[in-house]
Amino acid sequence: MEEPREPHVLVLPFPAQGHIKPMLCLAKLLAAAGLRVTFLNTHHNHRRILPRGPSSPPSSLLRLESISDGLPDDHPRSLERIEELLLSIKTAMKAALREFLVSKSAEPPVTCVIADGIMSIGIDVAEELSVPAISFRTFSACCLWTYFCIPTFIHEGKLPFPDDDLDKEFHGLLGAEGLLRRRDLPSICRSAIAINLYRYFMDETIAMTRACALILNTFDALEAPMLSHLATIFTDIYTIGPLHALAVKSHVGHFSGRSESVGSLQMEDRSCMVWLNSQASRSVVYVSFGSLVKITVDQLMEFWHGLVNCGRPFLWVLREDAILGENEEKARSLLSELKVVSERRRVVDWAPQEEVLAHAAVGGFLTHSGWNSTLEGIVAGIPMICWPRIADQQINSRWVSEVWKIGLDMKDTCDRSTVETMVRLLMDDKKEEIMKSMARISALSSDSVGPEGSSSKNLERLVKNIRKICQ
Ligand code: UDX
Repeated sequence: MEEPREPHVLVLPFPAQGHIKPMLCLAKLLAAAGLRVTFLNTHHNHRRILPRGPSSPPSSLLRLESISDGLPDDHPRSLERIEELLLSIKTAMKAALREFLVSKSAEPPVTCVIADGIMSIGIDVAEELSVPAISFRTFSACCLWTYFCIPTFIHEGKLPFPDDDLDKEFHGLLGAEGLLRRRDLPSICRSAIAINLYRYFMDETIAMTRACALILNTFDALEAPMLSHLATIFTDIYTIGPLHALAVKSHVGHFSGRSESVGSLQMEDRSCMVWLNSQASRSVVYVSFGSLVKITVDQLMEFWHGLVNCGRPFLWVLREDAILGENEEKARSLLSELKVVSERRRVVDWAPQEEVLAHAAVGGFLTHSGWNSTLEGIVAGIPMICWPRIADQQINSRWVSEVWKIGLDMKDTCDRSTVETMVRLLMDDKKEEIMKSMARISALSSDSVGPEGSSSKNLERLVKNIRKICQ
């Protein structure tokens, strides 16, 4: 009789901050549950992540490894040049992944691959090696369900639509009748999106169905209706979110202390925590548009004046690469002007976001509605103003404002008077009503990661199933 194989899980994230963070949380949780795990980054991101937080994994069962993404070191790997990265993932990185899996680097042999939902190379190579693959989409369930419906919308002639009539109601998404306008659909539905990008993300979505199970960073009580639709496509779904909260509860994540948050690719400027200590309770607006979104100087100035005019103190994350269409020197000098510390405002390159949101001085979150940020806002119980730009963000923000009612959606506009009105509504006029919904949803998120919570139980189920399929 053959010896049972030791389970060895390979976790393969898409090479971007919003994917690495939740997938590293998962890797740590699996290792803490006794599974051998290899977390496979690209060399580029491995170098950025290694000197800090996760350099000392919580257990000897977790290894951090890397392979090449096939791009030269000096490639910016930015949103504007994402097509080059996507092409390289499909070719050079896929070859590197195959080589990694068959070489001694993956000793003992990998027995299960957890591939990011937009990294189907993980599923391809797992199939070649006859190893089971599980898909982990870092999006919300509401967005993933919408993606699966896009081919039907095209077939029915509902897509594409002209970008000049985005306020028109959009019918046909099961479970969302009367909820959506055209502008609320994922950005790949807009005609301005490059056809190659559309194809890539749709192909990746369809490829997910070849995996034997689906992991989502959400929780049952938040997205039950959408999850029931996804259950018609995937027979085995594990909702184990909010992962960052589950990691904290399981003592493998941290967001209070002196070290970096799990999976942060940039050095966090902790001086903003000192600044927050000097602000009144629930007075500060925290502004962050995540790790990828860029804004033009005009948009930046509208936000700036809107925030100044509403009279609230604010803390704004403006990454060095956040300004679009400006020459580097001009952008740098504008940023350094804005970064002058004042009693009422503070601008930083990168903040310890989970810790900022948990600070008593923060009362509102102006966000791009990235899924991690949305979940982090929910866990901290901080109501949101949404300014979504790409991917799942348009859908997330609609759910924030119209389904969960935990924030306001200012999608596609950012003139200073709208910004000012939104902040006033969130922090004053509508505060009570929004806070009431937020308190409810936030409590549900906390329950889900408690000892008897759905996400904790689903994680246990996932670990059991991995052991089984690895036999
Ligand atoms: C991307 C997509 O935009 C998002 O919609 C998708 O769901 C995941 O991939 P990103 O744009 O970076 O991610 O947004 P988000 O999902 O919110 O992730 C950003 C992460 O960076 C969050 O976990 C946040 O805590 C962290 N962050 C952001 C910091 O730690 N510090 C900061 O200053 C800003």
